[in-house]
Amino acid sequence: VKRETPAALRFLDDALKEAASKHLLRERPPPQPADVLSFSSNDYLGLASRPSPTATCGAGSSRLVVGERAEHVALEAVAAALVGAPKALVFSSGYAANVGLLSALAGPEDVIVSDALNHASLIDGARLSRARVVIVPHLDAPAVDAALQRSAGRRAFVVTESYFSMDADSPDLRMLRRLCDAHGAALIVDEAHALGVLGPGGAGLCAQADIRADALVGTFGKAFGASGAFVAGCSSLVDWLWNRARTFVFSTGISPAAAAAALEAVRIAHDNPALRERALAAATELRALLATAGLKPNGYGHILPWILGTPEHALQVTHALRSRGIDVRPIRPPSVPPGTARIRITVTAAHRTADLEHLASVVADVWHGGRAWGPR
Ligand SMILES: Cc1ncc(COP(=O)(O)O)c(C=O)c1O
Repeated sequence: VKRETPAALRFLDDALKEAASKHLLRERPPPQPADVLSFSSNDYLGLASRPSPTATCGAGSSRLVVGERAEHVALEAVAAALVGAPKALVFSSGYAANVGLLSALAGPEDVIVSDALNHASLIDGARLSRARVVIVPHLDAPAVDAALQRSAGRRAFVVTESYFSMDADSPDLRMLRRLCDAHGAALIVDEAHALGVLGPGGAGLCAQADIRADALVGTFGKAFGASGAFVAGCSSLVDWLWNRARTFVFSTGISPAAAAAALEAVRIAHDNPALRERALAAATELRALLATAGLKPNGYGHILPWILGTPEHALQVTHALRSRGIDVRPIRPPSVPPGTARIRITVTAAHRTADLEHLASVVADVWHGGRAWGPR
């Protein structure tokens, strides 16, 4: 094969080879065959494969220029209503929302207290803000308290996910709200994997805890099966982001077609609570089936993380399941801490009990039959 990497980029070939030797190379997944049973999407309500509603393709510019469309405004009203916030601003993705939000809110004099397992977009937003970032152990409220005490006199932001997608666990949001109030800090909660599924009517875990986040992030790309995301909060927050969130200001407005698809998905989810109920019931069923097979995935709810350890181990199990017609994806460092490579099984409203039973029986076979990775 002719080597096509230009000389100045040959270092990439070496880096790719090294990643492959550690089983950390992410290869492009093959297109999914129709007969494969998938347990790896974030399409928790089974809404992603419906046809999109008709709307224009492009916004044509940033919304600050001439990109503002009726679909954006309608989606923002629906998003704010969904989480019970006064206002919302739509971004083109959850990644853009988090990076834009944190970098617009915090500055070099400020402190961001961030859960150790926060998503990359929260980490990147915190870095870009140039604030001092205090990383606290996962779900450790006393560590948040201590960090806030040490930050007295500075503006502080506590940042967490509400339902951690790699661990399927949640912080004590009431406690975090109390700590933030006691220290005059702002609470920022990313509800990416909770919204649409968890909380009253799928309104998320802040709603369930009956607290208000100062900024709440939700995405349309997961439970709602569309794309885009929003930040919800008070009018001043939204006005500030409209002016200062660089991932919003300096970016073409989300496609009106994508906004219309998200809008329709939120309406479908609202009108069909059975979707959410099914996703949660399927999760409970699958956890029980796996327990019978001798396996206990972490956490609770519709994400079932199965920690395996090394990337090699996670890949072996993934390949073994794939050869039996089951599509799950390995999650390896740097997405998760070293030594905790895992398979993240997700259930959706579209899974039937027979699908779950099939998965559990194949998992049991692979787990108990695999000499290389048998129970230890
Ligand atoms: C917690 C969290 N926040 C934000 C995002 C990014 O959302 P999006 O896929 O809409 O960019 C993700 C996606 O994986 C996520 O898990």
